[in-house]
Amino acid sequence: MVLTDQEFIRIVNYVKNRYGIDLSQKKILISGRLGNYLLRGGYQSYGEYIREVEGDPNGKEAANLINVLTTNHTYFMREFVHFEFLQKVVLPWIKGKEGKRNKDVRIWSAASSTGEEPYTIEMVLKDFFSLDAGWDTQILATDISTRVLQKAKSGVYLTEQIEPLPDTWKRRYFKMRGAEEYQVNEEIRKEIVFRQFNLMDDIPFKGLFHVVFLRNVMIYFDDETKRKLLQRIYNHLDAGGYLFVGTTESIDRTAAAFQYIQPSIYRKIS
Ligand SMILES: C[S@@+](CC[C@H](N)C(=O)[O-])C[C@H]1O[C@@H](n2cnc3c(N)ncnc32)[C@H](O)[C@@H]1O
Repeated sequence: MVLTDQEFIRIVNYVKNRYGIDLSQKKILISGRLGNYLLRGGYQSYGEYIREVEGDPNGKEAANLINVLTTNHTYFMREFVHFEFLQKVVLPWIKGKEGKRNKDVRIWSAASSTGEEPYTIEMVLKDFFSLDAGWDTQILATDISTRVLQKAKSGVYLTEQIEPLPDTWKRRYFKMRGAEEYQVNEEIRKEIVFRQFNLMDDIPFKGLFHVVFLRNVMIYFDDETKRKLLQRIYNHLDAGGYLFVGTTESIDRTAAAFQYIQPSIYRKIS
């Protein structure tokens, strides 16, 4: 099936306007991934498919489109420096701040993909607060793709995927399921609230976050989309709250008044 320039531009514009993702340099990716999906679905052309997506009022086909086109690469302990910083700097700050109040930790993994990121965060929290009763360590994990959220909720991973984790965590927080699979145990899974959320939209979540992980997702957004998103996140951070972006990313500090702490770590001035 041939992807004409016109069809390509229509798909690029649709995805850009709705999800902020810039695929203008990704013709091969689109034809590779979407081509297979269209053949399986019995479509005759990309044009026929785009018309269906654009005309679908409840957005079901748009969700399938985004499931096919997003890049969801992630792994446990990715960018370890953030988890170390969380444990050594951020959690002691939260403990000092909330310990005498409601013992509430508010963390958002804002492009959580298949779950490795929020589960790693939760394991750090469980370890940190293990001797300290009464803390609510439930965290929020969101992504635009329903496909990855479903996988994340199941908490099932191959043996090789949990390899980067320390052995104590593997023993404590996973149970074996067959020869090659492990599942995150209930104690950790019940602490993660997974929700579909488009980062282009207004943030509907109540309360201010202590920490937002916004890692390896802004690479797909243009400067204006990034600027608006960073401002919305700034407004939803607690005073003194932290923002982590991917270690190869940086933010334009004129976008919002974030204080630079070290590469890929920023803070809302308290
Ligand atoms: C490369 S993964 C990053 C996963 C994890 N944060 C990490 O650093 O390992 C990027 C994720 O961003 C999600 N994403 C892309 N555009 C989005 C949008 N507009 N709103 C929410 N999530 C989006 C994708 O579905 C994908 O799962």
